[in-house]
Amino acid sequence: MLLRTDFLLRDDVVFLNHGSFGACPRVILDEQRRWIDRLEHQPVLFFRQLTGLMRTAREAMADYIGARPEDLVFVTNSTFGVNVAAHAFGEMLTTGDEVLTTDHEYGACDRAWSQYCTAKGIRYIRAEIPFPAPHSDEIADIIWKKVTPLTKVLFVSHITSPTAIRLPIEELCKRARAGGIKTVIDGSHAPGHIPLDLSTLQADIYTANCHKWMCTPKGSAFLWITPELKNSIPPLVVSWGDVIPTHGDGAFVDEHEYLGTRDVSPFLTVPFAISWMKDQDWPSVQQNARYLASEAMKGLMSIPGIQAIRVNGQDPLLQMTTVLLPERTDTDHMKEWLYTEQAIEVVVHRWLGRPILRCSTHAHTSASDIERLVQAVQTYLQ
Ligand SMILES: Cc1ncc(COP(=O)(O)O)c(C=O)c1O
Repeated sequence: MLLRTDFLLRDDVVFLNHGSFGACPRVILDEQRRWIDRLEHQPVLFFRQLTGLMRTAREAMADYIGARPEDLVFVTNSTFGVNVAAHAFGEMLTTGDEVLTTDHEYGACDRAWSQYCTAKGIRYIRAEIPFPAPHSDEIADIIWKKVTPLTKVLFVSHITSPTAIRLPIEELCKRARAGGIKTVIDGSHAPGHIPLDLSTLQADIYTANCHKWMCTPKGSAFLWITPELKNSIPPLVVSWGDVIPTHGDGAFVDEHEYLGTRDVSPFLTVPFAISWMKDQDWPSVQQNARYLASEAMKGLMSIPGIQAIRVNGQDPLLQMTTVLLPERTDTDHMKEWLYTEQAIEVVVHRWLGRPILRCSTHAHTSASDIERLVQAVQTYLQ
């Protein structure tokens, strides 16, 4: 069983914000260190060997998400992956075309789409998902109502960042595929958190972080593109491409994988992290974290004035849980108070004008962390 001491997290802070930047266990950081040392012992030899090493890492990643290694590349983070997609569609679409999204997207990615679309006269339309949010089927219908004959791309998160809602992407990808609309999924919160099988999803582009719920080092993420589309998507950074072909995995990998000299140790650590997750009996780690998230939900919901973010309560299957705080809450003050007075790191802010609290649970979370949070929130709001 994993313990908090398996991570580097400070023991004087109740850490309930895994969702923002993850947390990496010591053994995985040790593995990363081994890669860094190997590189620095003979950098030129290492970079000569790099294409084969990257292929091995992509094979493990692909196997974990139901994909083929030649259809994905490692990227530094999902902001980068989303930018590759938004830039490409900005080039491919024409004035008046529409990109449809939701108003629950992660700010940086939303901003990227907005900028690329505005530059090309493409309409960027945000379907409003009300909250408290309805059932998944209803969310799919709400989004779909905004589809027009001009809709060319649908960009949505698998799990939303501000509200921790699992969007019905299976249904949305199916409808989009049938309607000739390309889908770009921001799966930042999915790998290591919920099941992911790209072989059945029918998405066109899927990008996600490993450094959140898979607990890999910061700077490890992937960009997967369906074989029919991958060679139409140009890289954001033009490097050697197929002038120096990498490993016979085709132009997509050649163009997107080698982006000049950079730290590749987070990518190379992924196979170790995947087998470490297996060794930890990951389903039981997840089950325990989901239980703690549901305890947090139960405790917070018992505090007068706090409301659920879903009409029928929170999605019980996630390790992130969000609640609406009383309208009068000064969120900046509350966040500061929780950290300085109670040593609790948790997301508290106003989002779309509503005061929200988002709590994340993972292998390092304990029942006493949740009790401390509930107690502190109760004290603050009374
Ligand atoms: C839904 C979502 N998308 C994208 C990101 C950006 O992740 P990164 O900073 O690793 O690019 C986040 C980060 O929290 C997120 O929650």
